Amino acid sequence: MTLKGKNILLCITGSIACYKSVDLYRRLKEAGAGVKIIVSSSAGRFISPYIFESFGEEVFTDDAFKSPLAHVSLSKHADLILIAPASFNTINKLAAGIADTLITLVVSASQDKPKVLVPAMNPNMYANGILRDNLNKLKEYNFHLASPETGNMACGDFGEGRFPDAEGIIFELESVFKEKTLKGKRVLVTAGATREYLDPVRFLSNASSGKMGISLANEAVKLGADVFLIALNIDAPCQYINKNMRIIKCKSFTDLKDTLPGEFKQCDILLMAAAVSDYSFKEKSSNKIKKGDLNLNVELVQNEDLLKALSGIKKEEQRIFGFAAETDSVIENGRKKLMEKSLDYIFINDVSKNVIGEDENEGFLINKEGKIKRFGRQLKTELAGKLLAEIIK
Ligand code: CTP
Repeated sequence: MTLKGKNILLCITGSIACYKSVDLYRRLKEAGAGVKIIVSSSAGRFISPYIFESFGEEVFTDDAFKSPLAHVSLSKHADLILIAPASFNTINKLAAGIADTLITLVVSASQDKPKVLVPAMNPNMYANGILRDNLNKLKEYNFHLASPETGNMACGDFGEGRFPDAEGIIFELESVFKEKTLKGKRVLVTAGATREYLDPVRFLSNASSGKMGISLANEAVKLGADVFLIALNIDAPCQYINKNMRIIKCKSFTDLKDTLPGEFKQCDILLMAAAVSDYSFKEKSSNKIKKGDLNLNVELVQNEDLLKALSGIKKEEQRIFGFAAETDSVIENGRKKLMEKSLDYIFINDVSKNVIGEDENEGFLINKEGKIKRFGRQLKTELAGKLLAEIIK
């Protein structure tokens, strides 16, 4: 949990999206952050500071003259200043260096602190050239931007300017605190399970949810990598997927086989978390087979091992990270796979421990030198960070 113990100064400025900052506050607390809050005078017309006070928080209001040095002490205390929502007015003031409210004053006194802006406004306002120029200017001054979403607005318009989900904002904050150890690297991730269709409705697959692969892809984005995710049948995402990655959807073993080699050639690191079917049906029907017509002795053909094939075309500097699902002799079987497929690393999921489809995982990492490391049960989102750290080492 990157935000655990971090002091976040949540600055709320006037926007109809202000009420969403209450959920954001709650999520920050759940992530273990310490939160101090400033509610600007226009934000105070949308939401009352008492909401946060009733949660036991001290709330600072936009009266800079009430406590003359509050902007300095608040700025010193903060590890990160989050302006969410950030209004048209506040963004433009910040870019011009105006400091006439408590929030703009705090920013003026926080040269060395990371600052994240979450713009939220009507799409026409968000498209306004002055705002765009000022956002670009603020980026040059190292302000981070959590981009607004596109959708229906409170005013009835449709477009870009909606306050993003709390998950997207938390992701941005976590990214700010991460060292960009994968900057300039291309990371290819596969996640989910292939489906081998017998007819248009029946298929052979497995229970892999894609959570581990998605966690790895998200983590690689946070570490600054250029990420490409091949998502296998993750239609209703089981967890948050960050927007800053390219995603291609594949269904079957054949789709994956057609997509993977071309993408692999361009990547520095392959994280092959997908559960690939070892078999396909010998014959497939393009029409739905009627129950009376089905020959119950359907014939299967074995699929090629994609990882093994990729190892054959691997360049010296590329890294291949495979995964294994084992129920018995887990280390022995995992080590065998590492060697047979010429992998740099393998993470062995002990699937007898009820990890498939769960938020948590546990298992063993083996590198090509044969070194084994055990990872106890933990969130897949946390394990992803630790596994990537092993490669970066
Ligand atoms: N894999 C692959 N191509 C396949 C099957 C698996 O590339 N046809 C990859 C998986 O993505 C995973 C690794 O190989 O990274 C190990 O997959 P796993 O299902 O654990 O093992 P298998 O090699 O299929 O062997 P077995 O089913 O006999 O355990």
